[in-house]
Amino acid sequence: MTGTVRPIGAIAADSGRLTALIERFAALSEPGRGPGVTRLAYSPLERAAHAVFAEEMTALGIRVWTDAAGNTIAERPGTDPTLPAIGIGSHLDSVPNAGTFDGILGVAAAMETARQLTEREIVHRHPVRFVVFAAEEGARFAQACTGSLLAAGLIGSADLDHQVDPDGITLTEAMSAVGLDPGGVESARWSASNWAAFVELHIEQGPTLESLGRRLGVVDTVSGSTRVRLDLRGRAAHTGASPMRLRADALAAAAEIVLLVESVAHQTAELGTRATVGKLTVAPNSMTTIAGEVSLCVDVRELDGDRQQRVAAEIVERAGGVCARRGIAMRAETLAEALPVALSPSVREVLATACRSLDIEPVVLPSGASHDAQQVSHVTPTGMIFIPSRDGISHDPAEWSSAEDIALGATALATAVLHLDTALD
Ligand code: HGY
Ligand code: MN
Ligand code: MN
Repeated sequence: MTGTVRPIGAIAADSGRLTALIERFAALSEPGRGPGVTRLAYSPLERAAHAVFAEEMTALGIRVWTDAAGNTIAERPGTDPTLPAIGIGSHLDSVPNAGTFDGILGVAAAMETARQLTEREIVHRHPVRFVVFAAEEGARFAQACTGSLLAAGLIGSADLDHQVDPDGITLTEAMSAVGLDPGGVESARWSASNWAAFVELHIEQGPTLESLGRRLGVVDTVSGSTRVRLDLRGRAAHTGASPMRLRADALAAAAEIVLLVESVAHQTAELGTRATVGKLTVAPNSMTTIAGEVSLCVDVRELDGDRQQRVAAEIVERAGGVCARRGIAMRAETLAEALPVALSPSVREVLATACRSLDIEPVVLPSGASHDAQQVSHVTPTGMIFIPSRDGISHDPAEWSSAEDIALGATALATAVLHLDTALD
């Protein structure tokens, strides 16, 4: 490869280009599902977003491929093909009625890095791979990070049928429906020897950076999550003809459990415990019928794996007590579980150095959300860079980060790639 090795820090992300790219991805949203963006895991829209990525990388002359899990990867060669790759990227699927930046930021910034390296003919020793993971969000299928879990070899084809969406479609069926190869997902597994490091740029999705007035963060620990569905069965009956003393009201039991989940989390909230019931379905969900069946989904988040599992177990046990007292049958099913991970301190230090080269001292902070970086950290040393989220809001149309912070984050990511290229063997 020709080209001049520019001094590290010669990269300045193009804010206008980033904004246009983010808007282009955000426009790929389910019609009529507003407000906000809805582009669910393994939907045709997610694949359309991956196609935009592939089209742009191909136009830069960078080789692109999509693996059996639906992860789309592009690779710009380095001067030494014997070296393992430095990877950057994120995801392009969203939760329902999402904001614009969750996942998209990290992909758009990776694409901007590819463009900067190519247009400025910057040479690097390691191959650089630009990665779009499939199905990061756990909104459609309770399990989050399916594409990166498959890449990390933490799940395989045998695990896909256990995940079913609200319409009864399995992961296997959803992947096949968009032309992927669920039976061949073992071929998507990353080999540690092929990777030198992976870095994900992401919005913080919480309030810390904004509250500190800081513009960049580097992540030390990514929270784990345990997701449990509780199915309650009482007795549907007439709301007028049924005396209070004779009822088995599944929704009243669920209401008590929602508050129970909150109170259990408050017991160790100062240590970082979070627990939420964000999804509740009621049958028959009719004004004049006592609810016979209710399903509620509990999401426990923690920075300590043992406490995460203890909190989830306490919630299930105490919810069982509520149901026993009320004459309600309860079935609990753990839908997904990812334990917290500590990201690579050495990669984090290189990311911090890259931030400092831009005259920004980054904040070291944990991630309250889960991320693809959490999964691939099982295969290669991994780091994350955060930019602030206004009011700490995410997974909502109000999610917002400034164009200046987006450009700074992308510049930090691109600069970090060059620092890693120098720092790693
Ligand atoms: O749910 C999460 O933490 C992430 O947004 N997938
Ligand atoms: Mn995300
Ligand atoms: Mn998300």
